[in-house]
Amino acid sequence: MTIDYQNRLDSLRTYAKENNMDIAMVTTPANVFYFTGFLSDPHERFMALVLDNRSDEYMLFVPALDKDLAAEASIVEKIIPISDEQNPYEIVQQHLGEDVEAFGLEMKTVTMFQHQQLEAAFPKAAYGDIQPFINTLRLRKSRGEIEHMQKAVDIIEKVLEEGLKKVRIGMTEAELAGELEFLMKKFGAEGPSFSTIVLAGEKSALPHGSPGDRQLQHGDFLLIDMGVKIKEGYCSDTTRTFVIGEASEKQKEIYQLVKESNQAGIDAVKAGVPLKEFDIAARRVIHDKGYGDYFNNRVGHGLGIELHEEPSVHENNENLAEKGLVFTIEPGIYLPGFGGVRIEDTVYINEAGEAEVLTVFPRELQII
Ligand code: GLY
Ligand code: MN
Ligand code: MN
Repeated sequence: MTIDYQNRLDSLRTYAKENNMDIAMVTTPANVFYFTGFLSDPHERFMALVLDNRSDEYMLFVPALDKDLAAEASIVEKIIPISDEQNPYEIVQQHLGEDVEAFGLEMKTVTMFQHQQLEAAFPKAAYGDIQPFINTLRLRKSRGEIEHMQKAVDIIEKVLEEGLKKVRIGMTEAELAGELEFLMKKFGAEGPSFSTIVLAGEKSALPHGSPGDRQLQHGDFLLIDMGVKIKEGYCSDTTRTFVIGEASEKQKEIYQLVKESNQAGIDAVKAGVPLKEFDIAARRVIHDKGYGDYFNNRVGHGLGIELHEEPSVHENNENLAEKGLVFTIEPGIYLPGFGGVRIEDTVYINEAGEAEVLTVFPRELQII
């Protein structure tokens, strides 16, 4: 299924017109991709999709070295290259004139520096925020986007399945992470969607620990949290926790609780109820068994073009869940000095308002 970029651009134009903006300027690479199909990391260079509402014209300003790639990928045909020795704000001003009065920007990402440069180039301009509007558009995923996300999930499951065959007592967390990242590319991903997390034994109690020289040992928890980004631009993010060799009663108890919590979170998912309900349902299971203090993060986050995007699924989020949302359900119990368990799945609220779980990798405790 193809992505309808023109429809997205039309929505942006309608919004900008309704809000009397002369110009809408999009500079976040993920948002430039969302509207144009051109996916690129310009690093510190300037890149922007600009909509001029006075002439109904779209322009894509890109670093000169990216102009051919942009021309190939972008639905916006007017590509304006900016070379490294040029001042991008002067180039933008040459195309828009200095009389712009109302500028729409992504206020959360535009820096003080960019603001100053824009003020110098467009002295009459006032600024409005287009970010909340764009976030709302991106929040509601189409079936075409879900097909891409399912592909990213399927690849990471294949990586996990093959990667488990590489696990050996004595190898380090970092070595296993390296094997997994090799498999991601082998199975067709662009690369990891974030730096792969492999944590063994007591280190699995660190929700965002990084793989190091800790060697895998008999009796360890082995927590693997990873995802891929695929060329179509979408991410996956999946966690499974295993036990190496033999599980203790305590390990089994914690694992079972997290599994029940994950299931309770997923079972609560549907359109029309506040997002907080999903966190509360998952958290209750862990809290009721006395482990509430050891689950101290939200139950999930949206994902899509970016690894973390809206919505934030936490216990105070009163916003109503709606069709099209995609987010993780990732409860965990993290016991300092002992170890931790996290089980992370991706859930889509489909056209019928029901939960569709994209992650199918088994959730039962596997002793490897
Ligand atoms: N891997 C980061 C997260 O699960 O949110
Ligand atoms: Mn996650
Ligand atoms: Mn994760």
